[in-house]
Amino acid sequence: MEYRGYDSSGVAIADGQGHINVVKKEGKLANLDALIEQVGPDNLAGTTAIGHTRWATHGRPTDANAHPHFSFDKKVAIVHNGIIENFAPLREQLINDGVEMASETDSEVAAHLLAQAYNDGETAGDFEASALKVLNQLEGAFTLLFVHADHPDTVIAARRSTPLIVGVGEGEMFLGSDVAAFIEFTKNAVELGQDNVVVITKDDYKIMNFDGTTAEGKPFTIDWDLAAAEKGGYDSFMLKEIHEQPEAVRDTLAGHFVDGRVVLDEQNLTEQDLKSIDKVFVVACGSAYHSGLLAKYAIEHWVRIPVEIEVASEFRYRDPVLDSRTLVMAISQSGETADTLEAVRHAKAQGAKVLAVCNTNGAQIPRESDAVLYTHAGPEIGVASTKAFLAQVAANYIVGLALAQAHGTKYPDEIAQIWDDLSAIPAKVSDLLNCEDAVLDIARELGAIRTMLFLGRGVGFPVALEGALKLKELAYIHAEGFPAGELKHGPIALIEDDLPVVVVVPSPRGVKVLHSKIVSNIQEIRARGAKTIVIAEEGDTDVEPFANWLIRIPESSTIMQPLLATVPLQFLAAEIARQCGNEDIDKPRNLAKSVTVE
Ligand code: M6R
Repeated sequence: MEYRGYDSSGVAIADGQGHINVVKKEGKLANLDALIEQVGPDNLAGTTAIGHTRWATHGRPTDANAHPHFSFDKKVAIVHNGIIENFAPLREQLINDGVEMASETDSEVAAHLLAQAYNDGETAGDFEASALKVLNQLEGAFTLLFVHADHPDTVIAARRSTPLIVGVGEGEMFLGSDVAAFIEFTKNAVELGQDNVVVITKDDYKIMNFDGTTAEGKPFTIDWDLAAAEKGGYDSFMLKEIHEQPEAVRDTLAGHFVDGRVVLDEQNLTEQDLKSIDKVFVVACGSAYHSGLLAKYAIEHWVRIPVEIEVASEFRYRDPVLDSRTLVMAISQSGETADTLEAVRHAKAQGAKVLAVCNTNGAQIPRESDAVLYTHAGPEIGVASTKAFLAQVAANYIVGLALAQAHGTKYPDEIAQIWDDLSAIPAKVSDLLNCEDAVLDIARELGAIRTMLFLGRGVGFPVALEGALKLKELAYIHAEGFPAGELKHGPIALIEDDLPVVVVVPSPRGVKVLHSKIVSNIQEIRARGAKTIVIAEEGDTDVEPFANWLIRIPESSTIMQPLLATVPLQFLAAEIARQCGNEDIDKPRNLAKSVTVE
């Protein structure tokens, strides 16, 4: 689970003789491994354990702030994902009760509260009742796991707004924030609902609501295998995932064009619902947001209805105009991003229809949406999104075509033509992957870089943003993406001798004027000393005189070009990161794969 957070990690193991042993360490999981070796695995024996990898919210990434956290009597250990929003008054109350805090975290209060509830009062001696009492005191978003030294065969866990899945083995039971935690041991899993508590022993699981009444989980079989979550010979998950992009797009498209008609999957939206939509709002974060920008271009072009797009964290705080004829597209690889989830909830509360584009079966965002279109990129472990981004773009285009079909804004033969263009993309991405060595050479030739600009026009603009984001998160280099035409309104002042600028050039076979404008833009920056890395279609000779480096991409229609032009930028960012000495590109500093806090 390290990709979800790697500031620190730790485990707590009940020894079955009235004790819990905790080992935890700041930094990556390897540090914890080393500590366990030092302590001696035999000294940590037990058959009930909880573990955690942390992405710090409250308190720095130190040993003390690492999870698990102990209660004051060392009888309870807990791990927590999310934020306990009312931790401050709870902490103050505990301090008034004479409890000494060992960490700066919001999480620690849960351990002490459980010990208090178990030691005294009406829930005394009852682990389950004590856990329920504590859970009902907490506000915010949390997945919490509790172990108690006097109940060494039980783990109690709960979730509110953050993920938790049960893995059902034979004579063993698992809990994980996602299935990757236990995929090696079982393919049988159970999805929990919102505000559910689960009590597991080795042979059984029991699900309840926070008031103790019985609740039902949703069993499912995991269709990923372990190999899909392993590196398969590549140096990093990210490089493996870049190479998996042809399959990611192909699998995402599969089954969505049947007998000449575009079909969506898990649908509670009828053709009539789609027809009634008069406005689309896209909400997403990071790379998913960039894929959403492309949804805007495609849907406005194909369906002729307005599309607004907003980063999910801003959406609900500015009172967007929504009604029952608005379709909100929530795009999320993980399906658990708190900002996007809250935007979904806001949209639903305002009566809008919500369609999720998601890569994770059964995650919270699809669960709370009216309809889902799953991307089939498989598990994406590298924190920087690559194959999930390309799959999102493909899925967004499927939604655009489904809307065009429902609105009758495209004839069936036009839709079939666009589908053919889309279906040709996986093979073109496969060919394009051969550019890897040439792009790595460019990265090496660039030498030391302080800043880098990315320019595009039309659908090339989101590609420029995505290229800049990849470079920022992997190489920790300042990078900005701009619409090329905007450069002269300010950013051109940044151009100086040898500044590397990536330019994504639209197809010369598309809107002619756009192509010639960007060729002029390249000349403007070259005239001011920039070094240009030009991404252009095969056969586009106009750009040749102005490119310090030229990366060729296969021919495609304009709207499909982002599915190709993004790929070399992924290699470029990965290699520049290596040149900068960032060896572990799968886990860039300060980031986490799934951001379940707002
Ligand atoms: O799981 P999500 O798609 O909702 O995640 C959204 C962003 O956090 C994610 O795309 C992030 O920007 C990636 N690190 C980008 O590479």
